[in-house]
Amino acid sequence: MAKLFTPVRIGAYPLSHRVALAPMTRLRTTQPGDVPSAMMADFYGQRASEGGLEIVEAASVSVQARSYLGAASIYHDGQLEGWKAITKAVHSKGGRVFLQLIHGGRQSHVEMTGGVDPVAPSVVPFDGVAVTKDGFVPASQHRSLAIDEIPGIVEDFRAAAQRAKDAGFDGVELHAANGYLVDQFIQDGTNKRTDAYGGPIENRVRFLRETLEALISVWSADRVGVRISPSGEWGGISDSDPEATFSYVARMLDSYEIAYLHVIEPRVKGDETLHHNHAPVATKYLREHFSGPIIAAGGFDRASAIAIVESGDADLVAFGRHFSSNPDLPYRLKHDLPLTPYVRAAFWGGSAEDYSDFLTYEESRVLEGAQARATADAAEDA
Ligand SMILES: Cc1cc2nc3c(=O)[nH]c(=O)nc-3n(C[C@H](O)[C@H](O)[C@H](O)COP(=O)(O)O)c2cc1C
Repeated sequence: MAKLFTPVRIGAYPLSHRVALAPMTRLRTTQPGDVPSAMMADFYGQRASEGGLEIVEAASVSVQARSYLGAASIYHDGQLEGWKAITKAVHSKGGRVFLQLIHGGRQSHVEMTGGVDPVAPSVVPFDGVAVTKDGFVPASQHRSLAIDEIPGIVEDFRAAAQRAKDAGFDGVELHAANGYLVDQFIQDGTNKRTDAYGGPIENRVRFLRETLEALISVWSADRVGVRISPSGEWGGISDSDPEATFSYVARMLDSYEIAYLHVIEPRVKGDETLHHNHAPVATKYLREHFSGPIIAAGGFDRASAIAIVESGDADLVAFGRHFSSNPDLPYRLKHDLPLTPYVRAAFWGGSAEDYSDFLTYEESRVLEGAQARATADAAEDA
């Protein structure tokens, strides 16, 4: 059997297979207040499997951290019951569930941040987007953070990590990928600071280090993962030497003995898959710098997921879009069953349709059988 379908351990948790759910923001919280909805609990419950890992969509750690109307957040107690329903749905099927924590930084809009300018390490021209009541809109002009504001944001991450614990999650993942605030500090295309948080890489990772330590203070390192996207382009992010930067980041994360390093291969732009045949590159060099479990993500299919785990460059593979339309994805991959195509139009907001109404392979077989019998009965009656 391919290694992808065999047990593995991430930090504190033994898992029974290596097919994880990648975090996906689906803009289906209840407004106002970003309260996790019942259909979200259905969605995560449906995708849970015995000993499987799910990473729940990015949850903003404060009002200032918000980017997209309808996206998740975890900064007030009114959200806790909704989150508890989600962790309960996953645990009732024997799954493990981590919550991704995010600060959107400059990828935001004044309507999302409580009427104030979005913040970033530095002011650098940016033509990205946010989501408001008017849908996708250009991001507002951002301002650079004063150095004395940074401890407050680190505290927001700590408080959010505590709420995630109170809600019954098994751990948290720090979103240091895709051009959001932590990534904006790491990469030199967006970090032009001249203080202790900018300049050489040791300084550019200071914010990552401080937020990570805040999460570890709540959870311990074996229940904290970090997601990075070396050479990714989402969020207008760039670095003059991604391999050196992210090798440094991987070594630093290794020294904390975190639960896992989650790496988005630069093969996906927005929700478009680029270079289908492009071999994974980031995990290859990061493996030399990180000794714990690596989760690879970004444009994988069954064959490439099996291959990367066999090669040893990654220990698990996280699937986003295929998991969105195949609640039993680990089972389908294991048995090489056909996949239901995903529905891009339903990615960013909407109802339960094309969200939490996808059938498992067995359910669709039963349905097809019933439909065939109904057709045969109708033919007999005619
Ligand atoms: C609708 C949608 C929402 C996403 N939201 C997030 C998110 O909240 N956090 C994150 O780190 N990545 C997010 N991503 C990226 C996915 O986690 C994943 O890396 C990407 O879809 C590539 O994997 P795939 O080819 O298996 O879909 C999102 C992707 C999609 C399509």
